[in-house]
Amino acid sequence: MPENVIVTSALPYANGPIHFGHVVGAYLPADIYVRFRRMRGDHVHFVCGTDEHGVAITLKAEQAGKDYQAYVDHWHKEIRRTLEELVGIRFDAFSGTSHARNPHHRELAQRFFLDLLHNGYLFEKTEEQFFSPSLGRFLPDRYVEGTCYLCGFDEARGDECPRCGKYLDARRLANPLCTIDGQPPVLKATKHWYLDLPKLKQEWVQGWFEGKAADWKANVKAFVANDLEELRERPETRDLPWGVPVPLPGTDGKVLYVWFDAPIGYLSISKQYFAERGEPERFERLWKDPSTRLIHFVGKDNITFHCLIFPAMLYGTKAGWIVPANVPANEFFQLEGRKFNTSTGWFIPEESVRGRFSTDALRYALCTMMPETADADWSWKEFQARVNADLNDNLGNFVARSLRFAERFLESELPPLGQPAPRDREILAAAGAAAADMAAAFLRFEFRRACQRLMAFSSECNRYYDEMQPWVLRKQDPARCRQVLRVCAELVHSLAILAAPILPDTAQKVLGAFLPAHDDAGRPSLPPGPLRVQPLPTLFTKVEDKVVEEELARLRAVAKGGTAAAPAAPPARKPDEKPATAGAPQAAAPAGAIAYESFAAVELRAGTVRAARRHPDADKLLVLEVGLGSETRTIVAGIAASYTPEALQGHRVVVVANLAPRKLRGIESQGMLLAADDAEGKPRLLTPGPGTPDGAKVK
Ligand code: 2FM
Ligand code: ZN
Repeated sequence: MPENVIVTSALPYANGPIHFGHVVGAYLPADIYVRFRRMRGDHVHFVCGTDEHGVAITLKAEQAGKDYQAYVDHWHKEIRRTLEELVGIRFDAFSGTSHARNPHHRELAQRFFLDLLHNGYLFEKTEEQFFSPSLGRFLPDRYVEGTCYLCGFDEARGDECPRCGKYLDARRLANPLCTIDGQPPVLKATKHWYLDLPKLKQEWVQGWFEGKAADWKANVKAFVANDLEELRERPETRDLPWGVPVPLPGTDGKVLYVWFDAPIGYLSISKQYFAERGEPERFERLWKDPSTRLIHFVGKDNITFHCLIFPAMLYGTKAGWIVPANVPANEFFQLEGRKFNTSTGWFIPEESVRGRFSTDALRYALCTMMPETADADWSWKEFQARVNADLNDNLGNFVARSLRFAERFLESELPPLGQPAPRDREILAAAGAAAADMAAAFLRFEFRRACQRLMAFSSECNRYYDEMQPWVLRKQDPARCRQVLRVCAELVHSLAILAAPILPDTAQKVLGAFLPAHDDAGRPSLPPGPLRVQPLPTLFTKVEDKVVEEELARLRAVAKGGTAAAPAAPPARKPDEKPATAGAPQAAAPAGAIAYESFAAVELRAGTVRAARRHPDADKLLVLEVGLGSETRTIVAGIAASYTPEALQGHRVVVVANLAPRKLRGIESQGMLLAADDAEGKPRLLTPGPGTPDGAKVK
């Protein structure tokens, strides 16, 4: 019986580029699962979009000096492009949570709020929260950073800790500082609405989780069981200028907490999808049918919200929404042993992979490295090994040798399957066994195992070919030779079908080798009659040592604090231009010239002066707090003759960001500003061009 399945991938914050750490956690496994389920005949609805509210957005938009909507629009487009083009993710519905993008979201989130309030699961409370007297605003969530009181990480945010993944009470952070001006915040009373999680736990959540979790992944179960112990009431509203307004009178300036509205985005995006297709009734039919399986793919840091809080909210509305059947969360994914970090350059820039490796090569390698049960790592050497040994030498080799042989020696014509010999039956049965094992692996979210099983079967196919020696049979027993190649064609077809969820483009190409045409709609085998096949262009390209070395060198430069230059794209050549020849004479370098690498080692970044004051012990110096996107630096600059502290507030600057810190008259300067003297010899600051966000690299 086909099942109705809703698959969701965590809504990425529309506040920066998406990297492989995200892709492997919540998007690639979801896409593979969706493709597999569809081939099996299930009705799948695949939903995602961008998370566009909350402090993760407001803070960065403010730092970039951009309007909130314009800011999220930019990243919405970028994220969608990366996911679709770079790794071939095919969502059914992809939208977002801002009102301009999705007119259904605000109303639905407010409906949830009112339902929970009405059912007695939200209550009002006035409590002290962090406030900045200098800025005159409350400082919810990421507006405050400090040391995590659970794991000691010193860049924990007001609402959650990126290291231990735990939800935090900002007031308990050690050394809290405002992320806008670097000042310690004060406490001030404000009214908010709290979700009564202890009550929901007792009434429903605990029993539901304990009954449900039997078939959940062990890493998820362990995490949730631990969190369940500590489930306390949580504020679900914030004092912020951007978000879903609290739907009650007298609450101006208060919005729903981003983690309240974001998961409702799965529903509102789906609602928008069906409304735009002219089938609005299908939305509630699907989301309120108890037989629909709802599966949330998320990374480790989203486990609590998807396994406890959001199910509690869905239940607490008493509106009949289904709750998740499974949350196959992954663990953390690192790059060569260190956390991905787009602001320091410790990530894989798109230029390093776009146009260089196929979508399928990236998908396969990522899938083999997936952090399914424990933290895992992208390693360039591993990537090279997987592409070269698995895709090229194993799978690609079997497909190519089978099709080429049929073309060269059998005029591409193959006989009906007829009566297969015992060894043929054995290998054909192996295809069936591989299909069953892979299906079980996909259904249990064991994507690495599915890859291993695919390659094990492909190795069996190569062994069959080697044993049969068609190149010998061709002369000694031409009829048997044709029969063997007919079996090989069958195996090529099986490999394409089995690989399709992981390697969709490759599967499509391979199926194109059979005439008349076959689709990949999950046909278990080819029609038994005679067959025509055609050879294919090379399926995979080997990853050369040079590429791996280049990428590792780039990361080494980042680790040393240098820039992360991506490989230069070959310069476009005009049609009449001759290619440059090796050994062509180079222009002589001027005296004192430095190598490009020396320049590239200087990390220059765009920034904004957030606060400025006079140096207490030096007339010529000003002490500035400069925002660089993800961090704020104290910089002491000799510019008091040119600027007053007031005039510098909000001034855009270029910062030398990897200079060793140095004390200037007792105050540590964590960088340097670029300036040029004016006609009177007074330093004037250099300013990045309009639209350059804080933290952008100056090249
Ligand atoms: O951690 C994140 O990137 C969040 N934006 C995920 C939200 S998932 C869902 F609830 F919307
Ligand atoms: Zn922590």
